[in-house]
Amino acid sequence: MDTSRRMFVAAASAVGILTNVVKAAAAASTGKPALLGGPKIRDNAFPSWPITDRLEEDALMETLRNGNWFRGDGKHVSEFEQAYRQLTGARNCLATANGTSALYVSMNGIGIEPGDEVVVPPYTFSATVNAVLRQYALPIFVDTDADTFQIDAPKMEAALSPRTKAIMPVHLGGSACDLDAILAIAQKHNIPVIEDACQAHLAEWRGRKVGTYGKAGCFSFQASKNLNSGEGGAILTDDADLYERCFTFHNNGGGRKPHSSSFAYSGTGANFRLTEFQAAILLAQMTRIEEQAKTRTANALYLTSQLKEIPGIVPARMYDDCTRNAYHLYMFRYQKEHFSGLRRDLFLKALSAEGIPSSGGYAPLNKEPFLQTALQSKPYQRLFPKKVLDEWAERTHCPSNDQLCQEAVWFTQTMLLGSRSDMDTIAEAIRKIQKHAGELANT
Ligand SMILES: Cc1ncc(COP(=O)(O)O)c(C=O)c1O
Repeated sequence: MDTSRRMFVAAASAVGILTNVVKAAAAASTGKPALLGGPKIRDNAFPSWPITDRLEEDALMETLRNGNWFRGDGKHVSEFEQAYRQLTGARNCLATANGTSALYVSMNGIGIEPGDEVVVPPYTFSATVNAVLRQYALPIFVDTDADTFQIDAPKMEAALSPRTKAIMPVHLGGSACDLDAILAIAQKHNIPVIEDACQAHLAEWRGRKVGTYGKAGCFSFQASKNLNSGEGGAILTDDADLYERCFTFHNNGGGRKPHSSSFAYSGTGANFRLTEFQAAILLAQMTRIEEQAKTRTANALYLTSQLKEIPGIVPARMYDDCTRNAYHLYMFRYQKEHFSGLRRDLFLKALSAEGIPSSGGYAPLNKEPFLQTALQSKPYQRLFPKKVLDEWAERTHCPSNDQLCQEAVWFTQTMLLGSRSDMDTIAEAIRKIQKHAGELANT
């Protein structure tokens, strides 16, 4: 960014900060919630996403002009893999078309087959489960630890069966799941762990990057993610043979010299390759990833210090050994009994009216009708004994997750890239809503 642009951005953000402070003070003094016609706490937007500058523009133009748009011809995908490997400390990194394909390719590399079972959390994006279904394996859901929003590791062992061929925990929201407990269960039963770290770039467990603990760790670079190339993904693994199998599978069975003129196959697969354009963008985006992560952490910790003082707002707890949270999401539980019974949907609406965008997060994935449709399909009926399919719903019942899905509230990572006064407006808006919860509940 040139100096004049920097000064403009600094000035604009100073004005934004001032506007927020003035608005917050005004709103607090008049008191009336914006949903009931009072002044909004803020009307300027939170930081937009993605953040780009000349680096991305130059990288794209350079790739456009050099004419090497396919990883077999260019060098950006390999450069990105090397850079991401170094950033995470993994021995091998394979770039993929997206996070879903990273999971799917890993499962194929590890040898998960139709008829196997894979342990997954119900509190995740559908892709975690879709990767399992694409392999005609059976997702077995383990309930959520509502304090941390992560898979409840102590409940995991009871979910295993002789069919279990992988455990696929998710580092949800960018916080780490209970890796020590999960790895201990996996080791005891000799079951590979595939970490779904699609939301957890730079997150750490005991000082080491998540995604490097399991047999494979999978990342997404989809547009909303903290590292973004529109679409994109990566697999980390310390297992050189697994890396080769994943490479082959993601390259339509072709070996490690992916060139259009090469028709020598070392296996089967499909095309899950990243393009040179995406890799060029990722290399540019990576120059800011540390700085952005530090801003998110500082803001999230400050926001937590404010929100935990509000009765009925319970920020997601981190496990003690989660030494770094990526804060892809800022998550908390909203307990309506502390807000005069104000329903969560109305709380979200009231927040939005105050200028604070938020979401209620996931619905219970284990109850999605698409799962019953899959289980009733011919392949599943052929692959699994009737008893297994009949008992599946009862076996994957997740009461704590059901409750969490009714109470959760999320803010996006981009909001955490704002200023400390932006965080103040969030807390201020919630306090205002709480003060007027009775009136709001009657609207
Ligand atoms: C937990 C989780 N797993 C998997 C994925 C899939 O990633 P992608 O959208 O890049 O395919 C995502 C991203 O949306 C995700 O949040």
